[in-house]
Amino acid sequence: MTYLVVGASSGLGRALAERFASAGNELILVSRDKRDTEALSAHLAILHGVKVSPVTIDLANSPLSYAEIDAALQVHQPLKGVLLPAGANDNDDVVGLNDDKLTYLTRVNYLAPCELLNRYLPLLKDNDGVVIGFGSVATARGRTQNAAYAAAKSALQAYFESLAHSSAQSGLCCQFYILGYLNTNLAFAQDLPFPMAAPDRIANVVYKQRFTNGRRFLPRPWYMVYRIVQLLPWFIYKRLSF
Ligand SMILES: NC(=O)c1ccc[n+]([C@@H]2O[C@H](COP(=O)([O-])OP(=O)(O)OC[C@H]3O[C@@H](n4cnc5c(N)ncnc54)[C@H](OP(=O)(O)O)[C@@H]3O)[C@@H](O)[C@H]2O)c1
Repeated sequence: MTYLVVGASSGLGRALAERFASAGNELILVSRDKRDTEALSAHLAILHGVKVSPVTIDLANSPLSYAEIDAALQVHQPLKGVLLPAGANDNDDVVGLNDDKLTYLTRVNYLAPCELLNRYLPLLKDNDGVVIGFGSVATARGRTQNAAYAAAKSALQAYFESLAHSSAQSGLCCQFYILGYLNTNLAFAQDLPFPMAAPDRIANVVYKQRFTNGRRFLPRPWYMVYRIVQLLPWFIYKRLSF
């Protein structure tokens, strides 16, 4: 079976590609970085003896070009899953950020993942496939930092719930992971009050649970943090600086 991993060149996407390839699955790996994705594809193909195709797409572009993915699908086993770990943030992401940055963050974190999901949904339904999305604990509540990122991830989370609802009676599996801090580029150099999780650990859990449905927090203790932040009264919350 073949899995499409969007945002596979680094961090969690790379760890997912390694985990799924190590279990003998074929892969189509998508990112903007041609050199990284080609090198990773060649590495996984040699190491695990599976077919891996690199595809270069910038999720910021609209409309997306599906030609390379469609061509790859022609030479792979049937598509079983779409994994959407792609994501981007920006240090200037506060309310009032410029239009270009607002559009970029919305496209990469929300619109483009939904467009890809929509595109391959009929195929996945035919194959009793799997769709896996990734959100963030930053969606617990709006705050000064990561304003557009959190809004886009909240929208993605809502879209996945609609997908889960609409496909509940079908053979499609739909999972959405709300992630705490990971030890990856995205969290690099940030001054974080919490320990960061290893992406390969997260990838292992996602792999094991790939044929289940639901919304989950990873690492699991983040559920408590998320709920506490949501329950804080406004007069306390507004004083927090994070
Ligand atoms: N790291 C954290 O602490 C954290 C916390 C909560 C949630 N998350 C979420 O977890 C997921 C994985 O994050 P991560 O930490 O693994 O991130 P990462 O290491 O920065 O990797 C992000 C991936 O997305 C791809 N990507 C970014 N912009 C793209 C674009 N315009 N077009 C195509 N691909 C693009 C990157 O590839 P190229 O740059 O090569 O294109 C890369 O493969 C993301 O959805 C993130 O929002 C992360």
